[in-house]
Amino acid sequence: MEEISIAIDGPAAAGKSTVAKIVAKRLTYVYIDTGAMYRGLTLKALNKQISLEDEQQLAALLTDTDIELVQGENGQHVMIDKEDVTRSIRSDEVTNNVSFVAKHPSIRKEMVKRQQILAEQSGVVMDGRDIGTHVLPEAEIKIFLIATVEERAKRRYEENIQKGFPADLEKLKEEIEQRDLIDSKREAAPLTKANDAIEIDTTALTIDEVAELILNEAARVITK
Ligand code: CDP
Ligand code: CDP
Repeated sequence: MEEISIAIDGPAAAGKSTVAKIVAKRLTYVYIDTGAMYRGLTLKALNKQISLEDEQQLAALLTDTDIELVQGENGQHVMIDKEDVTRSIRSDEVTNNVSFVAKHPSIRKEMVKRQQILAEQSGVVMDGRDIGTHVLPEAEIKIFLIATVEERAKRRYEENIQKGFPADLEKLKEEIEQRDLIDSKREAAPLTKANDAIEIDTTALTIDEVAELILNEAARVITK
């Protein structure tokens, strides 16, 4: 059967990675989490106490950084220089700083290059902010997921409670708004819906309902 590329973009906590993983599993495609790559570089920069405003130093750091997304039995593992950072890249510190790293044009250029190499194999579901617009402009299916900021903050809040992490709904909402603002206003490849993307408002939808909508679209495109 023909294998296609599926690009899923949207703001923070719209459900991109959860839904992308389900869609990839159902189609036996590879899932590529591009946000994890920006998070991995941010973690390394914070550990090395590099100024996140220093684009040149960050670019040199990225040149020296090996980023791997490894498919394990219990999901995807993110390896930075062979070290498993799957958990540490989700810390509040990384989450609240990653947009400052991701806004630099030279960082994006290199990340996009690496992501395009990862997507050379056929049958991929890739999620991020600029997949439909820059990384995979030729993707057969482009999805743009949205939800109200209140709903997205509530989702992160529930996720934190489940994991036993501290959770403050109002603070989470402010952090999401702040990150969306930086991601949408940056000059290089800002978060924006591709002209040919299908927008899905997930505010009142379950995860399975969103996955089903995308899988139906995939079935339609594949059998065309
Ligand atoms: O899962 P969540 O929505 O919290 O974020 P993520 O997908 O892990 O992405 C973290 C951050 O990386 C985003 O807020 C963007 O600043 C950046 N990012 C990006 O600029 N371009 C991408 N393709 C993916 C992520
Ligand atoms: O990748 P992104 O930041 O867009 O979002 P996510 O990490 O996939 O989803 C954030 C949270 O919302 C997860 O805990 C999902 O289980 C939940 N979710 C939901 O409750 N309803 C949806 N329709 C989609 C996601």
